Amino acid sequence: MQNWQKDSWKNFPIKQQPKYPDLVKLAQATSKLEELPPLIYFAEAEKLKRHLADVCNGKAFLLQAGDCAESFAEFNQANLEKYFKVILQMTVALMHGLGKPVIKVGRIAGQFAKPRSSDFEKVGDKELPSYRGDMVNSITTDETARIPNPTNLLRAYEQSAITLNYLRSLASGGFSSLDNVYEWINDFANLTKDNTQLANIIAEIEKSTSFFKACGFDLAASQDYNSADFFTSHEALLLDYEAALTRQNKADGKFYDCSAHMLWIGERTRNLDEAHVEFMRGIANPIATKVGPTMQPDELVKLITALNPENEAGRLTLITRMSASKIKDILPPLVERVKQEGLKVIWSCDPMHGNTEKSSNNFKTRRFDNILAEVAAFFEIHQNLGTYAGGIHIEMTGQNVTECLGGTNEITETDLEAKYRTHCDPRLNASQSLELAFLIGQKQQ
Ligand code: PEP
Ligand code: CO
Repeated sequence: MQNWQKDSWKNFPIKQQPKYPDLVKLAQATSKLEELPPLIYFAEAEKLKRHLADVCNGKAFLLQAGDCAESFAEFNQANLEKYFKVILQMTVALMHGLGKPVIKVGRIAGQFAKPRSSDFEKVGDKELPSYRGDMVNSITTDETARIPNPTNLLRAYEQSAITLNYLRSLASGGFSSLDNVYEWINDFANLTKDNTQLANIIAEIEKSTSFFKACGFDLAASQDYNSADFFTSHEALLLDYEAALTRQNKADGKFYDCSAHMLWIGERTRNLDEAHVEFMRGIANPIATKVGPTMQPDELVKLITALNPENEAGRLTLITRMSASKIKDILPPLVERVKQEGLKVIWSCDPMHGNTEKSSNNFKTRRFDNILAEVAAFFEIHQNLGTYAGGIHIEMTGQNVTECLGGTNEITETDLEAKYRTHCDPRLNASQSLELAFLIGQKQQ
């Protein structure tokens, strides 16, 4: 990688970084991170890249999902288990519908830093420095708690390590057995009995499992059946944190950002000739970039070439976030151009960030119907152009929150305040997430 170092990003203009008043404390925190163990090992990032190469070649599907912003307050055993349970349920629903292996990548164990549209926000009658995620400052409305605190970098690292440790145990132990997952899906089926469409899909899944069991497959004895690979990802936003966790593989000289298996660049920081693109081009992990509605075909080709100069399959995922109303106009020319240029990318759909709106009672929310409509349009566009719709990227939680409107449990505007808990954007709750996975699977059959 030419002219790249893990801190060469410092020579470029940078957006969305906290303004730390205490730079000595920041240097102490980052040097501590530099000596602490990395959260992932190089070979794991390469393994995910191989799985993603399968996605790129149309042989697997990417499910990337988790919180908009992880928080210190909501970190506990129950929430982690609920989260992982929904990921596994969605995986089964998607596998059944798409007939392909599903590569599971969490927005978790590092998803703590948030880009903001303004440096200040109004809370009640106070004007406060914006909350930028628990890795930076506190969401509480006390002015001093909003001052960016470098110690939070270490706390986020520690929470990520504990999270990753428990998720690895859940993925490799009996928790992920398909028998468990089917039982949970049945619980869901009982809750959604009056939805015939869902009930039919679930009945079909049950039929195929019984068939395999009747054939005498000893599913319980199979390693694939009982465990599930799981990978982590987050937005590489705070480059002080990302660079401090970047390590060189002495065997081949490559650098990996060992804060997660996969990293992505957000919509606000993906400009060419800026710090985030500079940092990301030099790490060997699988990476992604958000692609929003202002993206132009020429600009996209340049960005892809900067981030994946070797045109390596599995290296780069484009996460499109256009909105249900714009996707049909904006996505096709981008896809056609990338296809024409022979660029190897995974197309993944984020149906969340283009569809955020304010409810009449002033909650930031999203409509399930718009989310579903954007995903449906995404699949249709790829089908028409002969390209592969490779994945979805969603903000969800395993908790029974009321943040997005609609879904089979019909959350209305007046329901929003009951369990509105997100630290940032509205997330699909457990049943809305699973419903989305079922409906995607069904549309593709
Ligand atoms: C996000 O994924 O949480 C996010 C901020 O998205 P985007 O960069 O697409 O706005
Ligand atoms: Co978000």
